[in-house]
Amino acid sequence: MSLLKEIQRRKTFGIISHPDAGKTTLTEKLLLFGGAIQEAGAVKSNKIKKGATSDFMEIERQRGISVATSVLAFEYEGIKINILDTPGHKDFAEDTFRTLTAVDSVIVVIDVAKGVEEQTKKLVEVCRMRNIPMIVFINKLDREGKDAFELLDEIEQKLNLRVTPLSFPIGMGYDFKGIYNIWEKNVNLFSGDSRKNIEETIEIKDISSNELDKLIGEKAAENLRSELELVYEVYPDFDLQEYLSGTLQPVFFGSALNNFGVRELLDCFIEIAPKPRPKESDTRLVKPEEKEFSGFVFKIHANMDPKHRDRLAFVKIVSGTFERNTAYLHVRNGKKLKFSSPNAFFADKKEIVDVSYPGDIVGLHDTGNFKIGDTLTEGEEMRYKGIPSFSPEHFKYINNADPMKSKQLEKGVDQLMDEGVAQLFILELNGRKVIGTVGALQFEVIQYRLEHEYGAKCSYENLNVHKACWVEPKDVKGAEFADFKRVKSKYLAKDKRGQLVFFADSAFTLQMTQQKYPNIKFHFVSEFE
Ligand code: G4P
Repeated sequence: MSLLKEIQRRKTFGIISHPDAGKTTLTEKLLLFGGAIQEAGAVKSNKIKKGATSDFMEIERQRGISVATSVLAFEYEGIKINILDTPGHKDFAEDTFRTLTAVDSVIVVIDVAKGVEEQTKKLVEVCRMRNIPMIVFINKLDREGKDAFELLDEIEQKLNLRVTPLSFPIGMGYDFKGIYNIWEKNVNLFSGDSRKNIEETIEIKDISSNELDKLIGEKAAENLRSELELVYEVYPDFDLQEYLSGTLQPVFFGSALNNFGVRELLDCFIEIAPKPRPKESDTRLVKPEEKEFSGFVFKIHANMDPKHRDRLAFVKIVSGTFERNTAYLHVRNGKKLKFSSPNAFFADKKEIVDVSYPGDIVGLHDTGNFKIGDTLTEGEEMRYKGIPSFSPEHFKYINNADPMKSKQLEKGVDQLMDEGVAQLFILELNGRKVIGTVGALQFEVIQYRLEHEYGAKCSYENLNVHKACWVEPKDVKGAEFADFKRVKSKYLAKDKRGQLVFFADSAFTLQMTQQKYPNIKFHFVSEFE
């Protein structure tokens, strides 16, 4: 098949939600439709219950599972669908943000009873800033929840989206009768049978006909008619271009657990979701159809076997054809690298592949060459942009607890930072090492992994920092910057790339410092050029 045709039939997306809204359940049902798995329960949730480190350690031990679920690929109606896993737990939000740089669209899952929750807000904001096309799926309609219009309002207001429902619930919770599919103009009745794999839909050409009354009862039919009238009146018509440019978000209702409303979502998704999109590099916009291969690393995963310290770098293919055993340029370090066993990922396994196309993710075995954000090309000197580091919010000094193992510790810390588990800062004043993380859980993860994967031991010491921000003076040589550096010398550090970072010990200090030094910018994301 030609490159163009392969691009046309690919959709790479992520599902985002607050934990427990139903992301794992929905993923599983999508895979069932694709025939990628045969039964429910086959997808292991890699979810971490509230703050329980033991869960994470257990997951770490079962590395095989979490690597396999990082990318789930399946075919449906001739379309190759790649689902990228996004951890819902807030301590791993950074991982999710990075994964979002590799998706071409997202599905946002919202719990009908809980409405818009904290994590949803943060993740949607990132997607909105990047104009990523989004479809919203309101889940758990089999339960009592908020009124559909109230929810649509909430989504508009709290998530700052412009929505248009493409399906509409008939009743809810105990009275839940089914869904009217605005997109396909048919009714799908709910039977509450969770094992139902393929739904039967009843086509309703005209909702004013009494066919509808017969199906769902007179009262429900009347209700639905007036609700639909309101929907048509209040919400904009669906417009493909608006959806693709991220200015209009279609909404579906359903119950993932009952496999209800999922087919409608999937059928609409494969019709409207974007094929692999062009990506901005530091020199130009790169189009998927270009002949020459290029891609970037968005995730690094330590390998399953702790005895072999190799890792798997996940590369999103942006353009051209990626081929096995072909030399590609690792732009950051200028080396040509060949990959003899690139992995492709499927719902239940990973396999060595000879060729992959834009939109696909390949897993490359790596012995320490890659960092998150690295670009691979056929020789062109360009780097993909847009994988930022976020301002960490938890800080500790890291000390070596076993002097015999200082080399191991250094290597371990280095590699874990490359994986993006946390960020390392060196204090300007005394050269001490500080680890900064987005979530508190990461400290234990680092300690555990240093010991089990690198044979090194570390201890931590508390450090009172409210937030770290990257410093950008208007005038590097000016008096203002010199004064800032002198006054704040105790609170300055360098990150791994040598960029200057300011540790503010409180929100108040940060505010005062910003006021005192108006010509210095304080950034909360590392990429600000
Ligand atoms: P997550 O990945 O977004 O964190 O959510 P997950 O799919 O794990 O779902 C969270 C809980 O919500 C699960 O229950 C799941 O069974 C339930 N759930 C998902 N979709 C629906 C739905 O449509 N209706 C109802 N009523 N429940 C739904 P749990 O008890 O936490 O886990 P489990 O023991 O059932 O696996």
